[in-house]
Amino acid sequence: MKLTSSFCGLEYKNPIVVAAGVHGRDGATIKEVSASGVAGVCTKTIVSQPAVDVLPSFAKVSGGMLNSVFGSDKNAEYWFGEGIRQAKEGQARVIANLAGFTPDEAAGLAVKAEGAGADMIEVPTHCPHMGEILNAMFPGTNFPEPKLTDLEPMKQSVRLIKQAVKIPVIVKLSGTFSHIVREWAQGVKEAGADGIACSDALGPALSIDIKTGQPSLGGPRGVGGLTGPAIMPITLRMVLEIAASVDLPIIGVGGVSSAEDVVQYLMAGATLVGVCTAGHVNGIKRYSRIIVDLERLLEILGVESPADLRGLTLKKIGERREKNLQAVTEPVVPTVLVEACTGCGNCERVCVYGAAKVIDKIARIDPELCIGCGLCVSVCPEDALVQEYYRFR
Ligand SMILES: Cc1cc2nc3c(=O)[nH]c(=O)nc-3n(C[C@H](O)[C@H](O)[C@H](O)COP(=O)(O)O)c2cc1C
Repeated sequence: MKLTSSFCGLEYKNPIVVAAGVHGRDGATIKEVSASGVAGVCTKTIVSQPAVDVLPSFAKVSGGMLNSVFGSDKNAEYWFGEGIRQAKEGQARVIANLAGFTPDEAAGLAVKAEGAGADMIEVPTHCPHMGEILNAMFPGTNFPEPKLTDLEPMKQSVRLIKQAVKIPVIVKLSGTFSHIVREWAQGVKEAGADGIACSDALGPALSIDIKTGQPSLGGPRGVGGLTGPAIMPITLRMVLEIAASVDLPIIGVGGVSSAEDVVQYLMAGATLVGVCTAGHVNGIKRYSRIIVDLERLLEILGVESPADLRGLTLKKIGERREKNLQAVTEPVVPTVLVEACTGCGNCERVCVYGAAKVIDKIARIDPELCIGCGLCVSVCPEDALVQEYYRFR
């Protein structure tokens, strides 16, 4: 099994990269994390002024976490002196995630990052809680949450950075671009970006400490960005839309915590897959786990490399369109694979139609009551329910 993946002309030893976050906070941490086997690690966003985070910065929420952090708390001098050099002593490619307050400043940072040895530049658009952080950093100001509908400043940054450096330059799209992701993908491609990462956190989002009534996070309004498994169905769809609209390589990011999640991003059209929250809350070993499991999973799926799966779902959707297939609207009753069913009862619990029942420790589906909604299939831990979804009219 070859996990090697080529991205923007660079070879990555597997498709897993650590997305910008606490594991990219300094050179020593990046070096340590790279020993987990990941193919690349992004730095935390390098900004000219070190960021000061509001505290508390993190809160675990159902399905993920909230964060109210901004860029790196190390200054640019650290990163371009010691930070990137130390990160490069590790076994992974180093992706310098950086942002300037102006396109010129971004280009200046990119030149220094390249000089320090970074393999690639990643330019983030914005996190959903940026207004919150700026208000905390500059008391007395009242920044609104950014509504980035104007593509021009980002296009200008990309143009200037591309003119200034030889290494690949990719743009990381915000999770708040859910409804305009195609427009942004086309815009950054026009500006000359070599690839796209998608996405950053979703939000602004809120969690409340019910003992005090206080927001869990420490900013002026206590809001932050939502990350982790809760966001994946949205970010996965965004990746598929990017793949459908531009022919740029993509790093799929958002909610990945298992090899199965990675495969979904590959099928949506990603070449590499970024992981952040899963490593943050479960530890560095989670990255190695995903890589080991991925190798096994690809074998089970009968493919020789991650590239064999790339864009599969996009093709399937294309086939539906070409054949002018209409949606399934007749019940397709799931079949129970008796030898696989353990009688756990998950299907019975979720079936609001009373069609699934466990009798004599085996699930039975009553075809008279089943409407073919598919929920039982998606909760079966043994894959013992099979439904022929694609019988279109
Ligand atoms: C604690 C934390 C810090 C982050 N810092 C950055 C950052 O500095 N720059 C950036 O582009 N994205 C940052 N992100 C966003 C992640 O890189 C990633 O896009 C997002 O968390 C979604 O992936 P996940 O669900 O795997 O966490 C951060 C996320 C978290 C949770």
